[in-house]
Amino acid sequence: MENFTAYNPTRLHFGKNVVKDLGKVARQYGKRVLLIYGQGSAKKYGYYAEVISSLKNAGLEISEYGGIRPNPVIADVEKAAILGKRKKTELIIALGGGSVIDSAKITALCIASDKKAWDFMQWKVEPETSIPLITVLTLAATGTEMNGAAVIQNPDTGQKTAFVDELNFPRHSFLDPQYTVSVPADYTAYGIVDLIVHALEAFFGRGDSSITDRIVFSIIKDAMHWGPRLLKDLHNYELRANIMLDATLALNGLTDYGKQGGDWGMHAIGHQLSFLFDTPHGASLSIVCPAWLKLQKDRIPDRIISLGKGLFDCNSVDDTIGQVEKAFSILKSPLSLKDINLGQKEKAEIINQMNANRLSGMHHLLNNEDRIRLVEFML
Ligand code: NZQ
Ligand code: ZN
Repeated sequence: MENFTAYNPTRLHFGKNVVKDLGKVARQYGKRVLLIYGQGSAKKYGYYAEVISSLKNAGLEISEYGGIRPNPVIADVEKAAILGKRKKTELIIALGGGSVIDSAKITALCIASDKKAWDFMQWKVEPETSIPLITVLTLAATGTEMNGAAVIQNPDTGQKTAFVDELNFPRHSFLDPQYTVSVPADYTAYGIVDLIVHALEAFFGRGDSSITDRIVFSIIKDAMHWGPRLLKDLHNYELRANIMLDATLALNGLTDYGKQGGDWGMHAIGHQLSFLFDTPHGASLSIVCPAWLKLQKDRIPDRIISLGKGLFDCNSVDDTIGQVEKAFSILKSPLSLKDINLGQKEKAEIINQMNANRLSGMHHLLNNEDRIRLVEFML
């Protein structure tokens, strides 16, 4: 087992109607709130109205920045930060999925300093302070509601990249599974794939921790058990609640105990598909993950078999990879570039993008030749 430090300061409020306490909780951090949200779902399904009502009842002054897009871009963060500074914002409330929350995390850093948003993302400057962030999650997937990561893309530099810092942890996150019943089947599936791959990234990280492996298996098994049922019954509260909790637990630090962090090679590769083709994050991962396993099958067969035993009661590398593919196909998430209408024509572009950013895992390093093989496996 590796030495490790565990830290998670986010207070989670989970369950039916928790948002009614949002205003009261937010009020202790200040009066002037910047509410950040996405491209319309929060208003369409009534979550925005409930949030506004809770904030107004607590006497808060609200400014708004709406329109954050999936696979969020740095320009929105910069604009939100300008607005936040002008309004002397004391705290941020992010209402949405990972894209909104990640954008809000970097906006909070920018409002508290004169540093540039993209400099944080490039790890060029270290944040010294932030303003408090409270999240109201509407999509179960990323775990951002209880972690210190933010993932943003910049069309000017050709990157989609992650920045991780303790200051990015939300102070509070409100998770009402009822807020996720409107997520359509495809994004529900992508969210389930995402949480499974988070657990896998941890599993393939450096270090051995038996209990942590078992935690990983439990999270993945729970998601594989409830996920397909949820896709047939999208309005079922209990199913939504199970998947929502799985997603939070898959990336809130729990799966790193006794390890030196996860590998994150699959995510690094997946982000390039999202950058180039606006592929939804989870959809990119169900394509990359089997390809990554195929690349690694002769390098780390024992580790892959141990995954197969833990998850599927199978004893071979090929069976394990087949079962992972089957789990994603049951969710109807794409398994190949062909499934998202890409192919030979885009192959060179994808490889160039990956090589330009020298993408690799943290533990299982990838070189140019590996990236070519990965893309071939993805075709
Ligand atoms: O923009 P709106 O209209 O709100 O629509 C969104 C968006 O189109 C919609 N949606 C969200 N909640 C909904 C809903 N539709 C109906 N009902 C609801 N309740 O869903 C679409 C996708 O939203 P998005 O926020 O992009 O999805 P997700 O939560 O999967 O976040 C993906 C982003 O998070 C990053 C990804 O790379 C990607 O950019 N990640 C962040 C991580 C982190 N911070 O820890 C880790 C992850 O590995 C991931 O990289
Ligand atoms: Zn992810």
